[in-house]
Amino acid sequence: MRASDEIPGPPPADSIPAAYRLMKEVKKDLLGLVLAAFEEYGDILQLRVLGRRQVLVRSPDLIREVLVGQAKCFEKGKDYTSRRKGLAKFGGMGLLSSNGELWRRQRKLVAPALHAKRVASYADAMILAGEEAMADWQDGSVVEVDRAMMHAALRIVARTMFSREIGAEADVIGEATHALHGMLEANNSAWTLLPDWFPTLQRMREDRAVERIDEVVYRLIRERRPTPDGPVEDGGDLASMLLSAEDDEGARMSDEQARDEIVTMFIAGHETAANTLGWAWVELARNPEVEATLHEELDRVLGGRAPRPDDYRALPYTRAFIEETLRRWPPAFTFLRTCVAEAELGGYRIEPGADVSLVPYATHRDARHYPDPERFDPARFLGEAREARDRYAWIPFGGGPRVCVGNAFALMETTFVLATIAARYRLTLPEGEDVVPVPGVTLRPSGPLRMRAHAR
Ligand code: HEM
Repeated sequence: MRASDEIPGPPPADSIPAAYRLMKEVKKDLLGLVLAAFEEYGDILQLRVLGRRQVLVRSPDLIREVLVGQAKCFEKGKDYTSRRKGLAKFGGMGLLSSNGELWRRQRKLVAPALHAKRVASYADAMILAGEEAMADWQDGSVVEVDRAMMHAALRIVARTMFSREIGAEADVIGEATHALHGMLEANNSAWTLLPDWFPTLQRMREDRAVERIDEVVYRLIRERRPTPDGPVEDGGDLASMLLSAEDDEGARMSDEQARDEIVTMFIAGHETAANTLGWAWVELARNPEVEATLHEELDRVLGGRAPRPDDYRALPYTRAFIEETLRRWPPAFTFLRTCVAEAELGGYRIEPGADVSLVPYATHRDARHYPDPERFDPARFLGEAREARDRYAWIPFGGGPRVCVGNAFALMETTFVLATIAARYRLTLPEGEDVVPVPGVTLRPSGPLRMRAHAR
């Protein structure tokens, strides 16, 4: 096994001016830099900045090692677990941030509520959100697609979680997600070096957002379960399922843990789905032949009516279209593990403390798995083409034991929202409009994403 020092990569940026130059380049074109680095150094490489090292991997076999084969050696690091600067500040010790025994127990309690069989019962809420999104559109109107998709995705999580209108309360959680993203994006700025007690504007905004989330979510929990050990009001929704789920010893999760799981699902599930839908509309507008095939499927299956839950299986092309959108524009374009026990990747030793990043954006643009990777082609996700590909060449939802617990939900909601709207409207981009990817916490299309609606 070779030493980790030998992992190839660009020369270290070990001085302040060199680190500053690198930051400027990253700001200009992070995605381009990462793709170029993999081309130059291969499937495993390391970046060294001011004494810190980050290992990046691209190939399906290395990804499988991190997520499955040696998963015990790689955990969620402080970007997730820190209550000061990490996701845990908002989502607490929900599934996205927890590790070890807590994660194992919670995953078992939460997963049944989001199982593929169970999510079909949420389809009505998904279709309804699609209908509402276009309720005030007319032939020829210009619509802000990114806002509309964000709103639809938020409503879907809110309604499936609480099975009643929680309009204003959902907005509180939506705003909090934006505050969280503000925090994670600001983590790269010099302000975060200030001591914890120093009240920067960003920190005050975060604290306020957390207080407001707590107010709303604890109230909704107590409506359902007035005392922690008492009976649960069964609304047939996600929240009731979480609150009544019992572990092997018959114990239920505390109000605090339930709050963390609920907030985590809002955070993990709404902006990711909204961005996928935003990109879906951009790709439909850019690819007329693909659009024609999608319309043909919708017209044949729906014949002009709104979708119904049992149409899902009859829309394979629409679903493949969403899968191809997730290939080109994975909302989680990179995600991180921290090494907690010595591991081996690609013949190199990885030591505890090392950060390892998976980069779906690069894996999904690797011509070895996706010939002509810049071409948008849903057929990659149909029939043999799909079967022949390595499972770990498509990782928009991660993989292994920590695969996105909402993946069946997410595929269904994006398919239904797109199908509901595309059955009635085409959206076009204004002449010369150049939509580019913005790599923030998630990979979103540059906005405001204004498109023109045409009645079909
Ligand atoms: C297109 C939409 C979505 C994308 C692209 C996405 C992506 C991901 C990814 C990549 C992970 C794994 C992160 C890692 O291993 O570090 C993840 C985990 C997770 N996602 Fe999603 N997600 C989406 C929608 C949803 C939805 C709708 C929900 C909930 C309703 C959800 C809830 C979660 C949770 C709770 C986890 C943590 C699972 C665990 O570690 O056990 N996600 N998601």
